[in-house]
Parts: sequence; structure tokens; C-alpha cells
Amino acid sequence: MQHKKAIGVFDSGYGGLTVLKEMVKLLPQYNFIYLGDNSRAPYGNRSFDTVYRYTLQCANWFFEQNCSLVILACNTASAKALRSIQQNDLPKIGGNKRILGVIRPTTKLIGNYSTSKHLGILATNGTVTSNSYPIEIEKFFPYVKVFQQSCPLWVPLVENAEMNNTGSDFFIKKYIDQLLAQSSLIDVILLACTHYPLLYDKIRKYTPENIQIVSQGEIIAKSLADYLQRHPEIENNCDKNGERLFFTTDSSADFDKHAQLFYGEAVKSSSICLQS
Ligand code: DGL
Repeated sequence: MQHKKAIGVFDSGYGGLTVLKEMVKLLPQYNFIYLGDNSRAPYGNRSFDTVYRYTLQCANWFFEQNCSLVILACNTASAKALRSIQQNDLPKIGGNKRILGVIRPTTKLIGNYSTSKHLGILATNGTVTSNSYPIEIEKFFPYVKVFQQSCPLWVPLVENAEMNNTGSDFFIKKYIDQLLAQSSLIDVILLACTHYPLLYDKIRKYTPENIQIVSQGEIIAKSLADYLQRHPEIENNCDKNGERLFFTTDSSADFDKHAQLFYGEAVKSSSICLQS
């Protein structure tokens, strides 16, 4: 089925909804289609090849739905798949399609947040091992020191809605302590995973008050607004009826049950099946 021309927003699961929420707040006039690859989430510990294959399949699905612009609202997919898709696949797909990630817009700004120029990054294992954040931050802020910590249990805690239970405190504190042990000068921590804003209260609880904690949603929304302004040829291909459509590769009933927590309002999704 062909939909109105929407901006596609992708995540391995629910996390991208925290980004979509900010996009919709800032750009309510646009149509958005969200796809969560819930049946194959989490992506965080998967290989480059697997994340690339899954992400490309989902990107192609968006293009079949008439989207000209797709945002990978997932750090893991942005780190492991975006560049290959942009360089190898988009030229073959043709049709003036664009795909953007969340890492570059974040790294362009994040160095400005730190006074000590010592920055902490909390992310999935995949994002940390890709080294994408240190590499990109170095381009914009060569004098900023970057310290990374992977938090492999945080996405499962969020996806299973366990974040507010006391059992989660141990693993939340553990990864923060491991990050802060790398440098006593860290004054900003970036939550470089779209799931982590759901853990914000507990992350705040175990982080010293003088350290600022930054989520990506607002940064990505502002960067999208800026992109649309600078690219009228893409903007003209985005319909403005304020429609939102939600899709998942797993059960839509499950998606609807959990999505509200991330998106802030109830959603009604449809389930799709992608060939594995
Ligand atoms: N939301 C993804 C990210 O921002 C992580 C979830 C996953 O591991 O699939 O990195």
C-alpha cells in the first residue's frame, strides 16, 4: 500500500519513538511513518553485517512506502549501517532518496556542552566498538577528550519495561561508575542510545550533580528542521497533513502496549513481515 509522502523514522525497537516524539513536537505539520524492527531487536550486540542487512531491508521498506527521507533514529544502525547504505545502496536505489542518522548531528554540537572538554558517552556495545562517536567528535572538536562506556543490559531493561524496578539500579550505577572511573574531569554525559532517555531519572540519581546529562531527541529534531530548510528538493517530497503511522515487525498489540511509554501518547500500530 502506498502512503502519503512521509518522513520515515526507524529504530530497532521502541527507542526511536523518543526521537520521533521530539520531531513531532517541533515539526507537527509533517507526515511521519515509524518502523520498529522489534522482532529482531536489540541490534546492540549484533555484527556489522547483520545490522547492515536488517537496516537496509527496513530502509527499502520505507522507500516502498513512498518516503524520500529516512532517519535512522538508532545509534547502532547509524554507526554500523548508515555509511554503507549511503555510499553503496542509495546510488543503486536512485529516485532522489536520502537516509540520515543520529550520530553526525549530535557530534556536531556536543563538544559545545562541555566546559572541561572531557565528554562521557554511554551507548550500546555496537556503537562503542564502532568508535563512531570519538571519530566524529574529533572532526568537529579535536581538543575534546571522549570516554566511552557500553551498557549492554540497559536496552533489555527498557524493552522489558524493567527500568523502574529496584533490580535495575545495580546495572545503572555499575556502568555510570565505570564511565566516571575513566576520568574525574567528565562534565557532560551523552546518552548515545535512543532507549536511554527512559532511564534518565535513575541515571541522574547515580550521576554527580555537576555533570550534565544530554539526550539526543531535541538535537535530532532541530537538525531535521535545519536539513529540511536547506534541502527544498527533499522537503517538497514530504507531505504535510500531520499524519503519523506506526509499524512493527513484531506483534502490534505488544507494540501498542509499550509504545506510549516512549512516545508519550497512545499509538495504534500495524504489523509487517520482512523476509529474513
Ligand atoms: N535504540 C538503539 C540505539 O540507539 C539501541 C537498541 C538496540 O540495541 O537495538 O543504539
